Amino acid sequence: MRFTVDDRLFVLTGAGISAESGLATFRGSGGLWNGYRVDQVATPEAWHANPELVWRFYSMRRRDALAAQPNAAHLALATIEQRLGDRFYLCTQNVDDLHERAGSHRVHHMHGSLFQSRCVRCKAPFPDKALYETAASLPRCPDCGEPVRPHIVWFGEIPMDMEGIYRELGRATVVLVVGTSGSVYPAAGIVDIANQKGIRTIYVGPEEPLNADAFDEMIQGTATEVLPKFL
Ligand code: OAD
Repeated sequence: MRFTVDDRLFVLTGAGISAESGLATFRGSGGLWNGYRVDQVATPEAWHANPELVWRFYSMRRRDALAAQPNAAHLALATIEQRLGDRFYLCTQNVDDLHERAGSHRVHHMHGSLFQSRCVRCKAPFPDKALYETAASLPRCPDCGEPVRPHIVWFGEIPMDMEGIYRELGRATVVLVVGTSGSVYPAAGIVDIANQKGIRTIYVGPEEPLNADAFDEMIQGTATEVLPKFL
C-alpha cells in the first residue's frame, strides 16, 4: 500500500513506534517504573506529593530518549510527509523527540514533550534537556521562583490542542494508527470519530489494540517491519 497526494493522511502514533528504538512501552513494562505504577508518577497528585520522584522519573526518560535513535518507522513517516506535504499530519502520544529527529515537521505532541518544561505559575514552556535527580536540584522559575514541572500531560489533564487534532481529523481521508494499545482516551477515541466521518482507518502493530474492532484494516507486524512498506 502507498499513500498518494489523493490521500489526506492523519497518523496517530503511540509508544510502540519507539519500542524498536529501545524505549519501553507503558503496558509492555507492566506499567511499572522502579516498582511504581506509571499513574503514581504521572499525575498532578504525584507532583504535589513528591515532585522529586516525578522529576527523577522524567529525568530517567530524558536520559533514555537522548540515548535512543529514530528507527525505520519514524523515518518512513518523515518520507511520507515529504511526499504529501500539508496533506500529512502526525499526532503522537509520545513525548520523545524521535519523530522530529527522523525529519518529521508536522508533528503534534498531544501528551506534551519530554524536552520542554514550564513554570507552574508562568506556564510558558521552554526547551529543557537537564536532569533533575535530587531534591536540591529541583528547578525553579528564574522569574517568579515557583517550581518548574515537566511539560507533560499527566493522567487527569487535558491533552494539548484537541481542537487542532479534531480539525485535522475532519480533513483526513485516511487515519493510520501505529503502536498504541487503545487504552488511553481521548487518543483511543480518534478512530471512533474517524468512523463517524466515514474515514478509512488502519492499525499497525504486533498485537491487537483494545479498540481493534473499530478499525477497517489491521496490519499485524512491528512498526519497522510494516511502515517502510508504505514507501
Ligand atoms: P502502550 O504501552 O499502552 O501500548 C504500546 C502498544 O505498542 C501496544 O499495543 C503494543 O502492542 C505496541 N507495540 C509494541 N511493540 C511494537 C512495535 N515494535 N511496533 C509497533 N507496535 C508495537 O502505549 P500507548 O498506547 O502509547 O500517556 O500509551 C498511551 C498513553 O498511556 C501514553 O501516551 C501515556 C501512557 O500512560 C500519558 O502519559 C498521558
